[in-house]
Amino acid sequence: MRVLGIESSCDETGAAIVDDAGRVLSDVVQSQVKLHAPYGGVIPELASRDHLKNVGPVVREALARAEMTLAEIDGIAVTNRPGLVGALLVGVQIAKGLAWSLGKPLVSVDHLVGHLLAVFLRRTNASESGSEPPSFPFVALLASGGHTAIYRVDGPHARNMRELGGTRDDAAGEAFDKVGKLLGLGYPGGPLIDKLAQGGNPHAAPLTLPMGRTRSFEFSFSGIKTQIAQLVRNHGIPKTESGMADLCASFQSAVTSVLAKKLVAAALRERVSTIVLGGGVAANRELRARTSNLAAEHGLRAVLPELASCTDNAAMIAYAGLIRLANNERDGWDLIATSATSLPRMTRKGRGAR
Ligand code: KG4
Ligand code: ZN
Repeated sequence: MRVLGIESSCDETGAAIVDDAGRVLSDVVQSQVKLHAPYGGVIPELASRDHLKNVGPVVREALARAEMTLAEIDGIAVTNRPGLVGALLVGVQIAKGLAWSLGKPLVSVDHLVGHLLAVFLRRTNASESGSEPPSFPFVALLASGGHTAIYRVDGPHARNMRELGGTRDDAAGEAFDKVGKLLGLGYPGGPLIDKLAQGGNPHAAPLTLPMGRTRSFEFSFSGIKTQIAQLVRNHGIPKTESGMADLCASFQSAVTSVLAKKLVAAALRERVSTIVLGGGVAANRELRARTSNLAAEHGLRAVLPELASCTDNAAMIAYAGLIRLANNERDGWDLIATSATSLPRMTRKGRGAR
């Protein structure tokens, strides 16, 4: 089966074609980063308009790169939640139009499910990375610009996924971006801080993270942003390269250590032997290293998605949709777009909240 995935939940317009084995036959991402950079964050109205302009060409390019025609596609998967509703509507509407005109099945995908399954994607030329996909159950950390939470994943469907704990305020990626803005680095801050932190002293700035204890799987990242804002207010933005490296390293070390520790603690509590990363922050070098090292220390297996599978892409949506299609699930013409996720939280009694 080969499925066309369409993604437009935030500031990337994506189209991709993926097969049953998770092989990525094509994956096209048109980023809006430059459009939103002057504002230091995503402007929803601008995002919707840009998706509208780009979604057609992006779909056409995904077909061309896979050397396929629309007639050869077995189904269409589209992100319909959570995200900016105006942005989601663009992808949902083109997916409906294509499915209708081609007589192909249509399935919606929760963007968070896409991130949690991104680790199953196999990109051409990267298969020599050799890491086998994880088996269920696993515990996953999803850390992106919009979400940060730990999930227990018992299978590939949304109904098999339960949030064990999430952020009470900012998402981890949002914290990277806000700190990037405070330090005058530009947008998005995550990849820039990742680069600048290399060689910096992670103990240079005394930063504390609330909710750092590993018994709770909740996070809070707004306080560390305020600490950096105060440092900048009192001492200014570091003027030397090494000063900037030290501050970036201190911030990144504080954030990634709490993420990795809680992920491992959650797996140990759930008695699950595999841990997985997902979301844009999963591309962070320090988080990847810490997760692998801590997993090894505790006898756990860490499976990390390839870098191109971490940030928003349509391949993960195509794959999650393919799983639904293979299970004979379909969506109808009344499909809507919404800002809410379909994934339930674990209640105190350990049952799903749905
Ligand atoms: O998953 P994603 O592309 O979009 C959302 O679903 O939010 O994640 C984007 C986020 C941004 O906040 C970006 O700064 C962060 O992921 N990010 C990183 C890195 N690459 C992207 N954060 C830290 N280190 C990175 N290397
Ligand atoms: Zn995302």
